Formats: sequence, structure tokens, C-alpha cells
Amino acid sequence: MPDVREAAKLLENAARVVVFTGAGISAESGVPTFRDALTGLWERYDAQSLATPQAFRDDPELVWGWYEWRRLKVSSVRPNPGHLAVAAVEARIRDTTVITQNVDDLHERAGSKNPVHLHGSLFAPRCSECGASADPPAEEDEPGEGRRMPPPPCVRCKGLIRPGVVWFGEALPETALEAAARAVSDCDVLLTIGTSGLVYPAAEIPRLAARAGAAVVQVNPQPTPMDSVALVNLRGSAARVLPELVNLAWPDAMSET
Ligand code: OAD
Repeated sequence: MPDVREAAKLLENAARVVVFTGAGISAESGVPTFRDALTGLWERYDAQSLATPQAFRDDPELVWGWYEWRRLKVSSVRPNPGHLAVAAVEARIRDTTVITQNVDDLHERAGSKNPVHLHGSLFAPRCSECGASADPPAEEDEPGEGRRMPPPPCVRCKGLIRPGVVWFGEALPETALEAAARAVSDCDVLLTIGTSGLVYPAAEIPRLAARAGAAVVQVNPQPTPMDSVALVNLRGSAARVLPELVNLAWPDAMSET
């Protein structure tokens, strides 16, 4: 694939890199992408009607059960070579920022130091009343797929603990947005991996980087609205293309992870 050689050259010569990821990078770990997330019993629900503050107010046990099911599904799978390749880039280029839309912890478990979670995390529940952070429940509470679960009470104010993710209609975490804006304003290369580029403001990130002069490289088996923004479009899966890209930029980089 000649394009991957061009992308490897860009990466090898970069001093500042941003890696922007979406659900596609976790697909090969067995985590359904967001819009396919409702597999099994969840098919009768529309994800976007579960991921809203109103849905939690109307039926906290249904929403908490769905997110607990997703959290424990993520805990039962492993990072794939795509996540490991991202960690290999961070090991080679000190000034690398990973910005993810994903709420799983697979980047962290692959060795990424401090990914910016634009849409929060399944592993950072908090009180829906006072905002106090809470620990995820003990693993033995694994919910059956599609089972309601009562959210635990906040130890501080007894309010209901909610998932620490961004719901539709909610603002993205300020600190995450600021960190992302800072990183994309001054990077040489932005890799956009496994995102449909449909949900704003996150989808703005590759465009901001391109406008600031960065070379954008996209990895996705499907065409997306980012095709016109990317300098190089690598049509393929993250778990196959990213290790090839990283090994071309730095031979044997993947063998060190
Ligand atoms: P989507 O499910 O919208 O898109 C997943 C993308 O990954 C698609 O473009 C697929 O073609 C691509 N893909 C699938 N398998 C892949 C693979 N093996 N390797 C590489 N790419 C692959 O997920 P996101 O773009 O992440 O927001 O969705 C963005 C946001 O929309 C989510 O964070 C969520 C959702 O609403 C919130 O929850 C706030």
C-alpha cells in the first residue's frame, strides 16, 4: 500500500503528533462500535435514547444497567494491535497526545499514558446530584445483558451515581476540550482512526488540525466525511494498518511494546 509508506514518512519526521480515535479502534477487541452497540437484547433500544440525561431521570436502573453491561464487557476484552501501535507512537515521539471519543479504557491498558477522554469514561462514575466521583461497583455485580440495575447511592449526598460519560445534549468536559484544542493547534501530524466523524464538536478535531497546517492521516475501512480533510486515507482496519504504519516508520517498534 504506497499510501502507508507516505504516511510512515510523515510520522517518522513528525515532532508533534495527535492521535484521534473513535469506536473503530476498539472494534477488533470485540467492543461494538457505538452505533452497533445495541447487540443482543439491547437491539430493541435506540442507543441515543439511552445516552441522555432524560433517559436516566426516567429509568435510572435501565440506563445504569446498560452502562454497567458495557463497562464489564470492556473489562472482559483486551487492547488490540491498533491500541498497542498507538502506544508505540507515544514511546517514539515524546510530544504525542492521544484524544479519544471512546469511553473504554483500552488505550490505558495498551500503555497510553494519559489519553484525553472527550466523551468521558465508563470507569469514572459520579454523583448525578453533587458531582462527587465514585468508584465503579465491584465486578461480581455483572449485570445480565439487558438487565436493570439500581445505581448505587452517593456516599456524600445519597444522590444516584450516574455513568461518567457525556450524554447527548451535555457539554464535553472543559479540561478535555482545552487539552484537545491545545494539542491540535500545534501538531505536525494528526492520525484520525476509526471514527465516522459524525458527532460534533469532537468531529471538528481533524479539521482544526488541518487548518493549523498538520498533515491528517485517516485509518478507516469505510469512507467518512474526513476523507476530504485527510492528506492520506488508509482504507483498512486499525488492528492491521496501524502496526504496519508504525513498523514502517520505526522498524521493530511494535516488537518493543
Ligand atoms: P461510530 O460507530 O460512529 O463509527 C465507527 C467508525 O469506525 C466507522 O467509521 C467505521 O467504519 C469504523 N470502523 C469500524 N471497524 C473498524 C476497524 N476495525 N478499524 C478502523 N475503523 C473501523 O463511532 P464513533 O465515530 O467513535 O458519542 O462515534 C463518535 C461518537 O458518537 C461516540 O463517541 C458517541 C457517539 O454518539 C457519545 O457517546 C457522546
